[in-house]
Order: sequence, then C-alpha cells, then structure tokens
Amino acid sequence: MLNVALLGAGRIGQVHAESMTATRDSRVVAVADVNREAAEALAARIGAAARSVDEIIADPAIDAVLIATSTDTHSDLITRATQAGKAVLCEKPVDLSLERALTTLAAAEATGRPVMIGFNRRFDPNFAALKAGFDQGRIGKGELLSITSFDPAPPPVEYVRVSGGLFRDMMIHDFDMACWLFGGPPARLTAHGAALVDPAIGEAGDVDTAAVTMVWGDGRIAVIKNSRRAAYGYDQRVEILGEKGLLSARNVLENTVEALTAYGAVAAKPLHFFLERYMRAYQIEWQAFLDAVTQDRPMPVTLREGVAALACAEAATRSLATGTTISLTPGMLG
Ligand SMILES: NC(=O)c1ccc[n+]([C@@H]2O[C@H](COP(=O)([O-])OP(=O)(O)OC[C@H]3O[C@@H](n4cnc5c(N)ncnc54)[C@H](O)[C@@H]3O)[C@@H](O)[C@H]2O)c1
Repeated sequence: MLNVALLGAGRIGQVHAESMTATRDSRVVAVADVNREAAEALAARIGAAARSVDEIIADPAIDAVLIATSTDTHSDLITRATQAGKAVLCEKPVDLSLERALTTLAAAEATGRPVMIGFNRRFDPNFAALKAGFDQGRIGKGELLSITSFDPAPPPVEYVRVSGGLFRDMMIHDFDMACWLFGGPPARLTAHGAALVDPAIGEAGDVDTAAVTMVWGDGRIAVIKNSRRAAYGYDQRVEILGEKGLLSARNVLENTVEALTAYGAVAAKPLHFFLERYMRAYQIEWQAFLDAVTQDRPMPVTLREGVAALACAEAATRSLATGTTISLTPGMLG
C-alpha cells in the first residue's frame, strides 16, 4: 500500500482522484491545489487532507505524487518531487518548452526515482490490444500507420492561448501513440495546419486542423490527423498496415444498437469526449503505475518518452512555421 498525494484538483485531477481511491494499493493522504477551496472540496470528498505542495513534498511518509496541475508547473514539480525521493506520475505534456523538459529529464534521472508520464491512451483496452497484436507479429512488419484524433468541439479561445498550441496540447497524445507503436521516435516529420473551425483560434496564433507525416529511418510512415471539431463526437481511431494485413482499432460507440431500414443502416455515435472514452484507461494507467513502483519494474511510460513526444510537437510547430521538413536530432531527445 503506497501513501500518495494528488497535486492539482482541477478537471483531470478529479478524474484521477476516483482511480486513486478505487484501488486497495494506494491510499490518498493529501490533495494540494493553489486554489485552496478546490483542494479542500476534493480532499473532503475522498477522505484526504488538504495540504500545500511544499508540505507534501517535504513529507517523507508520502511515497508518490500524481501531478495534475497546469502544464507550466510540471517540470518544477517533477524535479522537486523526485529530489525528495518520491515516485511520480505526471500528466502530459512534460512541459511547453522542450529545453526545460530536457533539463527536467536530466535532473529526474540523476535522482534515480521513477517518473511516468500520463499518456492514458496506451492503457485504453482497444489500443493496448492493437499494440499486443502488432508486437505478436499478426500483420508482420508495420509499414503505414494512420492515427485519427478529432475532438467533438473546440475549446474556449482563452484555453487555446495558454495551451502551447495544438501540437503540444492535443497531438502530443498521437505523437506518443506513433512512437510507442513504431518502437521509437521518427527520423523526420512534416506538418500542415490551418484554423478552419474557429477564426479566433487562428487569431490566437494556433491551428485547429492539422496533419503530420512522420518518417522513420527505414522508410516506415505514420500519418496523424487532428481536428478540434467533429460533428458526430470524439473520433479516435488507429490503423496499422503491415506486410501481412491490417490492424485497426475503431471508435467505441455509445451503444451497440444498429437500425437497419429501407433507407440504410444507422449506428450510435462515438462516446462523446475523453472522459467517457478513456475513463477505464485512466484507472488502468494508475494501477500500472502502482504495480511498477511496488514491484520495482520499469515505468510503462517513461519521462524520456514524454520528452520524445514533446520533441515531435516542437518539430511539428517548427515545420508548420517554416514550411519545411524537420529532422529529429539526438539533442532534441535527451
Ligand atoms: N491525459 C489526459 O487525457 C488529460 C486530460 C486533460 C488534461 N490533461 C493535462 O492535465 C493538466 C491539468 O489539466 P486540467 O484540464 O485538469 O486543468 P485545470 O485548470 O482544470 O486544473 C489544473 C489545476 O491545477 C491547479 N494549479 C495550478 N498551478 C498549481 C500549483 N503550482 N500548485 C498546485 N496547484 C496548481 C489549478 O488551480 C487547477 O485547479 C494539464 O497539463 C493538461 O494538459 C491531461
């Protein structure tokens, strides 16, 4: 049984609180948030104490922390928590700055403490089964990977302004998915993007529609498509074409009813957004973190892999700005 603390009682912190309290392998002893009221409300709900981040980090009785605070705090909190001897599960992305993330990687690795990054999609049972089938050789060598990731509706423009942009905030999940499935980061990538959904997103300096092509050293290709809007809900699909066939993970629908009439076939829509689609994945993610810490096994998603996904996001941002293909250099990967 690990004594754990939750840093950040916002939108995703509240989701994690449910998984953290649903297992017998962790006891949530403290919750911190700069918004004291939010920390107190969540702490009261799950039977924990509301404490400050400083108190939690200084408390040797707390074995691990889950960092679910705003992105600009992740680097600092990872560094402080690992230096205090704690195991860390930190939400994506590691940072908005690749340079800062690389400094954090060096500092955390120097402590030897385990750090996992919250790429929850790896723990979605459908994508996990696709990865297992691929690794078992069901379609032989992978050649062309296609990832579709469309949100149902764009976020408020105030969110977009502080998000770090679509590549760091949203496509970061897909960069990780591509690197995970194809066994490491690509050699180079090219990005295209535009604000086609909401002109205000363009005025804020971001895009809401993007496609990135990634190429590995041996010629394998991945194509990632992102949009901040899909009229029919959250569209999350992955497909790998290989020498012996195709592996495909389709959307999870609201229900399995299909109406077949003289006019055609009508099925339910995909589950609406990430909370509906990935609730189970967040639970499995937390258990995977606990298992790795208690059994002293490697983290299922490492900080180094979090940095690699951020390097892809940085390269995509540069590619879009310059209209060129960007190579990922060893210096970008730490
Ligand atoms: N993996 C996923 O599916 C997923 C989904 C949503 C968000 N996220 C990530 O989770 C993080 C939080 O996102 P959110 O949507 O929950 O945001 P949010 O704004 O709802 O919550 C963030 C919370 O952190 C608190 N906070 C900020 N700075 C702090 C500090 N220094 N110390 C303590 N508390 C502090 C804020 O007061 C707020 O309550 C982001 O990095 C985001 O990218 C991941």
